[in-house]
Amino acid sequence: MATMQDNQTWSGRFNEPVAELVKRYTASVDFDKRLALYDIQGSLAHAQMLATCNIISAQDMKDIQRGLAQIENEIISGDFVWQLDLEDVHLNIEKRLTALVGDAGKRLHTGRSRNDQVATDIRLYLRSETDNIIALLKGLQTSLLDLAQHHTHTIMPGFTHLQVAQPVSFAHHLMAYFEMCQRDVGRFADARRRVNRLPLGAAALAGTSYPIKREYVAELLGFDGVCENSLDAVSDRDFAIEFTAASALVMTHLSRLSEELILWMNPRFGFIDIADRFCTGSSIMPQKKNPDVPELVRGKAGRVNGNLVALLTLMKGQPLAYNKDNQEDKEPLFDTVDTLTQTLRIYADMMRGITVKPEAMRRAALQGYATATDLADYLVKKGLPFRDAHEAVALAVRHAEQKGCDLAELKLDELQQFSTLIADDIYAVLTLEGSLAARNHTGGTAPNQVEAAIARARKLLAS
Ligand code: ARG
Repeated sequence: MATMQDNQTWSGRFNEPVAELVKRYTASVDFDKRLALYDIQGSLAHAQMLATCNIISAQDMKDIQRGLAQIENEIISGDFVWQLDLEDVHLNIEKRLTALVGDAGKRLHTGRSRNDQVATDIRLYLRSETDNIIALLKGLQTSLLDLAQHHTHTIMPGFTHLQVAQPVSFAHHLMAYFEMCQRDVGRFADARRRVNRLPLGAAALAGTSYPIKREYVAELLGFDGVCENSLDAVSDRDFAIEFTAASALVMTHLSRLSEELILWMNPRFGFIDIADRFCTGSSIMPQKKNPDVPELVRGKAGRVNGNLVALLTLMKGQPLAYNKDNQEDKEPLFDTVDTLTQTLRIYADMMRGITVKPEAMRRAALQGYATATDLADYLVKKGLPFRDAHEAVALAVRHAEQKGCDLAELKLDELQQFSTLIADDIYAVLTLEGSLAARNHTGGTAPNQVEAAIARARKLLAS
């Protein structure tokens, strides 16, 4: 008679043991042991429900609680012995539980499958990581605000096509990233609502014949409700994809900011300096100071995009319900969490270590005819149609360029060659300060508007 061998949960049905190579190929314990404490949390709630519904005895439940408490200690202290032979985190813990408390350990899996168990574990894990990431995003937002606060009147060239376009406040530029982070926070908060549903009770795929109470388990675990359909409950990984998509967008935002920091630190710009602790030198060129951290963030954005594509591809061909393919969801997900949390932590710190060089920013803003639009707007306000004003200013810019000077350096009679509407009040308009102050509406770069935006942002973060 075939007997249940020590290390094989299903061996009664098999004539030969799993090949060594296959065992290693199919095992996930090396990476899914990261879910261990969530697995225990889920098992405790499941056992409590089983006892409440008289599916197991009160004594069994006590034994299970005692065993799982010890296992938790062993895992935290590093004494727990993980066995590849036991395939995954779930079977490792169940086996140890049975060794510790006997039959009660074998009863824990009543009315449950690893399919709904693993889905529950990942959701518990992601819920906690999502909360952590939202807190880290807020930390980065605070760094951005702290830097912006000091630079509402610092003027830099704003760019389009990476050509000097119009002068902007440096704080205004930073606040653009605050807005991106704010949308990121919203995306994680929204995704969290769909993470926070309980799959347990779906069992393998169809539900279970025991008189279980899913809502009770949901309540014990702090879920907002249960997954409504058992087939969907065990096979859905939308929540993992959404989480990774939200992460890819954060990385995209930080990659853009990184690109700017790298440019700004180049001596040709010389707008900022990044603290030495975020940079490295070169092993051959003694003069070098390289912006390694922003460069790596830009690189790691590619890695998270890759994780998103991996998860989408993982799901696209799967028939209902659970398939072993799903085991491949964990590494991209864990890698995304690690990459994002480390990046956010380091970024908040790096933004605090930035030295701003307002003089260099100002020089650059003065070089590219950044106030040409202001001259055109001045003519429009004096009655010239915008298209004609545009043309007149284009000619004036060409003239200044030929002379190698700025518009504000042209004499009044020189400027009047391009339009007789120009009077000597034009010089106030052509200054960088005048240009900023003129954009005085919600979302504009006038320093008082940027100060108001920062104040609103502070309130938002405090709420
Ligand atoms: N290690 C598996 C996973 O991560 C757990 C579920 C296994 N279920 C099964 N029927 N083989 O997906």
